[in-house]
Amino acid sequence: MSPLPDNLKVGIDSIDQRHEEFYTLFEVLKKAGDGEFLEAFDAVILHTQGHFSEEEADMEKIVYPNKAEHIQEHKKALEEMNYFREKASSGKLMFAKAYVKDRLGDWFRNHLLNMDSDLARVINKSSY
Ligand SMILES: [Fe+2]
Ligand SMILES: [Fe+2]
Repeated sequence: MSPLPDNLKVGIDSIDQRHEEFYTLFEVLKKAGDGEFLEAFDAVILHTQGHFSEEEADMEKIVYPNKAEHIQEHKKALEEMNYFREKASSGKLMFAKAYVKDRLGDWFRNHLLNMDSDLARVINKSSY
């Protein structure tokens, strides 16, 4: 079964695939025990770096009015992930776990429903 709920699909395969990959890694991270948490967090961060760069490369191919705002959201999210990754590696594991459980999933869902859906709309319009 796809880890990406149907209502979160934007209908462009490359984008949906990236989001599916995020959810797969995110599920592993949420279930990770203390000893597996850092490795799972690193996997999510590594994926997210590539995910955002690919999305930003997509933006370059079209006229996309919300580019600056979208890139800014990516940058802030990665900074936040790295901040909590540092916390986790300096012994504040519960702090990082709370971020993953209470914030990261919501952030991703909101970003997908607002920014990424908007990007998909503009890409679809541009291909006519
Ligand atoms: Fe995305
Ligand atoms: Fe995005």
